Amino acid sequence: MSTVKAIYPGTFDPLTNGHLDLIGRGAKIVDHLVVAILRNADKGSPLFSVEERLEMLREAIAENGYRQVSVDTFDGLLVDFARSQGAQAVLRGLRAITDYEYEFPMAMMNRKLDPNLETLFMMPNEQYTYVSSRLIKGVFKLGGDVSELVPPLVLRRMLAKGAARR
Ligand code: PNS
Repeated sequence: MSTVKAIYPGTFDPLTNGHLDLIGRGAKIVDHLVVAILRNADKGSPLFSVEERLEMLREAIAENGYRQVSVDTFDGLLVDFARSQGAQAVLRGLRAITDYEYEFPMAMMNRKLDPNLETLFMMPNEQYTYVSSRLIKGVFKLGGDVSELVPPLVLRRMLAKGAARR
């Protein structure tokens, strides 16, 4: 019997409830899901180091009991990482039409680079359609309440970082 392995790539800085929702959905339809944190992301100054993000993702996945989900990091091309993992698919979330504009060229470029790798899109619960790591970081830095938008274990670390900076 063939099994399906998918990669859910991203920067996850920080992990949001929307990401976790998508991990749960992905875990239901593939045999093995690898959540893959991009190491060399070119996105300004990160809130958390890659190692901290790895730890938080591992904790969140264990807390939710997702036994078919693992976490890893990657550098360079996603298609190369997917190939090294023996994955057949990439999972990405689509929240709104604006995501489609960002995702479509990436999916097509990945297909050009590796025609055997399929991109699967899933939509998170509608309550997370406006939730993004970028917005959460921005709101948090200005003292806003993001407690309903990130897992409690992420919030604790964000608050600890905020306190350490003060
Ligand atoms: O969380 P993000 O920033 O939306 O994730 C973007 C990510 C990591 C999926 C994308 O930047 C990526 O795959 N980067 C790896 C480099 C690569 O493969 N580029 C070519 C495909 S466009």
